[in-house]
Amino acid sequence: MRLIILNDNVPAEGLLNDWGWSVLVEGRNRFIFDADTNPLVLAHNSKALGVSLNDLDFAFLSHWHYDHYGGLPYVGELNPGLRLYAPPGNRAMALRWGFDVMEVFTAGEIAKGIWTSGPLDDFEQALGVETSSGLVVIVGCSHPGVDRLTKALLDVSGYEKAHLVIGGYHGPSRRTLDRLAEMAEFIAPAHCSGDFAKAYVRKTYPEKYVGVMTGSIIEV
Ligand SMILES: [Fe+2]
Repeated sequence: MRLIILNDNVPAEGLLNDWGWSVLVEGRNRFIFDADTNPLVLAHNSKALGVSLNDLDFAFLSHWHYDHYGGLPYVGELNPGLRLYAPPGNRAMALRWGFDVMEVFTAGEIAKGIWTSGPLDDFEQALGVETSSGLVVIVGCSHPGVDRLTKALLDVSGYEKAHLVIGGYHGPSRRTLDRLAEMAEFIAPAHCSGDFAKAYVRKTYPEKYVGVMTGSIIEV
């Protein structure tokens, strides 16, 4: 499976950048996890990285914040009728963008080997994907806590540990990162994680740390 980072807060030469988060996942299924802030960033970066945002199997939205859903109208335009798994809240808007909206209320398996944590605190969900190396957890901003989202995905998927946890960790405490380190083989703080979280993981768990920037391609 490949994770293609269409946008992260950390810029890269030749790619557009803003505050946001979007990942294209290519494995047994091709889908987009969150859609950044700006359709123009998604359009430019996907072309520059040589990946198509057409022919997706589904789209997954972690939570209804603009730096995650801003590019969704573009994704809907390219994939009319695409299934969108989203927390409850803006169904009518997502329907207008052309999605087949599936509001997610609880943890569960949404496709073979792909699980949602369900919205924690009625707000934000994360995704777990089964790979040959184990469970890959993708988070958006982790407002409910990256450790809680990861634990919810371990519980619903039946995995004991995550192979990789990637995404925004929302300025976590040391304790949160320590708990995450117990649950994950590799840790990839991105987007809104903050410099402290990156430095802490790099220093305390160097063997687990994975650096992420706009345009990163992570093969699992
Ligand atoms: Fe965010």
